[in-house]
Amino acid sequence: MSACDGRVALVTGASRGIGKAIARRLAAEGAAVVVSASRRGAHGELHGTLDEVVEEIVAGGGRAAAETANLADELERADLVQRAAAHFGDIDILVNNAAMGRWSLPSATPLKDRRKMLEVNLMAPVDLAQQALPSMRSQRRGWILNISSDTARQPAVPYRDTAEAAHLIAAYGSSKAALNRYTEGLAHEVAVDGVFVNALAPVAIVLTQEAARFVGHIAAANPDMVEPVEVMAEAALELVTNRHVGQIAYSRQLLHAVVRPVHSLDGKTILGDAFIPANLAAQVF
Ligand SMILES: NC(=O)c1ccc[n+]([C@@H]2O[C@H](COP(=O)([O-])OP(=O)(O)OC[C@H]3O[C@@H](n4cnc5c(N)ncnc54)[C@H](OP(=O)(O)O)[C@@H]3O)[C@@H](O)[C@H]2O)c1
Repeated sequence: MSACDGRVALVTGASRGIGKAIARRLAAEGAAVVVSASRRGAHGELHGTLDEVVEEIVAGGGRAAAETANLADELERADLVQRAAAHFGDIDILVNNAAMGRWSLPSATPLKDRRKMLEVNLMAPVDLAQQALPSMRSQRRGWILNISSDTARQPAVPYRDTAEAAHLIAAYGSSKAALNRYTEGLAHEVAVDGVFVNALAPVAIVLTQEAARFVGHIAAANPDMVEPVEVMAEAALELVTNRHVGQIAYSRQLLHAVVRPVHSLDGKTILGDAFIPANLAAQVF
């Protein structure tokens, strides 16, 4: 029996990056996974599509389907959980991973960028949680995981990069700080119903295509600041299969605390402990 046998998961932002890795890891543990992003096809110069993720999971013996919704649009996201449940049944595991960042100084972040970050990074996770909760509560079984970021906190000095770079992430970090607070509140409301809500952030940079574009230079100069995507996928699996309540967890610390080894995304190989070296993440994901 695998950890997610008989369970249905919805993972947003799963066309590439961390969301794709979490989707693959859950599928390898037996979950039927609905992957979601704003579009099915290719996206500018970025590689990876929802359909490819579905093909990859199915080729590995798993079950997967795709649903699109632009999470910045409240109407498009209004029935995402319902559409996802039409594939394999009610959602047991919701992973709110999709997010977007606009980098500008906090003194000058335009209203349209603030609105978009709050819609995708905060309002959408809240809406999807509210859509998923009725069936989770009636089954008395469910997990909601919100993917957060260490940018929710003001970076410690001395800064790893320039002071300006530290300031540019403030508005995005504010959306993640709000997500963390919402996570704690919801977690303590619904734990009594058998629904476990938590947040998870990477300890370091996960070299996704997006991260490589914006902080690739920091990663190149500080290899200790790069985290293999498998660490996040493993930590996510821990939080959607166990009874954690309202944690704002950090990937490596969580795995270290629960003494959980990190597996490859197909679940077949143990790669090491929570502190496996960054060279596993050398490839942009
Ligand atoms: N990578 C890191 O080092 C790092 C560090 C801290 C926190 N995080 C967090 O980890 C999560 C994943 O990050 P990542 O680096 O893997 O991101 P990514 O590579 O940029 O992928 C983002 C995913 O979200 C989807 N998405 C973006 N905007 C959307 C929208 N409006 N509607 C629906 N889907 C949307 C994207 O698909 P489409 O563009 O096709 O819609 C894509 O699948 C995010 O919550 C991020 O804040 C990452």
